[in-house]
Amino acid sequence: MTSIKTQKLPTQAIGAKIFHSCNIISLFIMLTSGLQIYNANPVFGGRAGLHIPAIFTLGGWLAGGRHWHFAGMWLFSLNLLWYGIYILITQRWRYRFVGVNDIKALQKSQNSKRLIYAWHRIAYTAIIPILLLALFTGIGMYKPAQFPWIVDIFGSWQALRIVHFASVPIVTAFAIIHSLLGRKAGGTELTESMFW
Ligand code: HEM
Repeated sequence: MTSIKTQKLPTQAIGAKIFHSCNIISLFIMLTSGLQIYNANPVFGGRAGLHIPAIFTLGGWLAGGRHWHFAGMWLFSLNLLWYGIYILITQRWRYRFVGVNDIKALQKSQNSKRLIYAWHRIAYTAIIPILLLALFTGIGMYKPAQFPWIVDIFGSWQALRIVHFASVPIVTAFAIIHSLLGRKAGGTELTESMFW
């Protein structure tokens, strides 16, 4: 007699899939249009400074980049907002983010899968304040007359720009680490389950 082994495929809540897909689209728009804006007057070195190759930019020129950035800003921030409400209502925040057990596992566990889960939870817990910081500094740059105190918190306009710009390398590094750890934890099945 032959026994058929059935493996349970990972599944995700539809809310998580929608958030994840909108996040990827909005972050792609924010990164590429942000780099287009940056190129008009680079934070590092001014007009003669370090420019980003056109292939990584969106919008074609400064005004085009700004249009994309300000349109993407709504998708980015409303998506974050509704997901925040969703994880509060469904109580998902209790087990989705890094906890004491993950820290203990990092200190004691020899189980490589458990370690990957712990690192992964740290990564996607850490990205939340980074995204909120991008939003906060972005609002300060968008409406400096209405929110001058945001500029004041960072000390100067240049410092605010640098902190806002820092979201580019951090979000890029996060995307790479997050997809690699996701692959290690659950293979392509887990990655695919986040989309369809
Ligand atoms: C993770 C998401 C984001 C990334 C990666 C990003 C990236 C960038 C970059 C690279 C620049 C150019 C900085 C410079 O050279 O001064 C920029 C500018 C800007 N960003 Fe963002 N950004 C993000 C989210 C946001 C959000 C959510 C807002 C609004 C709430 C926002 C508003 C702005 C504004 C107002 C500017 C300046 C535009 C100008 O000077 O014309 N950004 N962004």
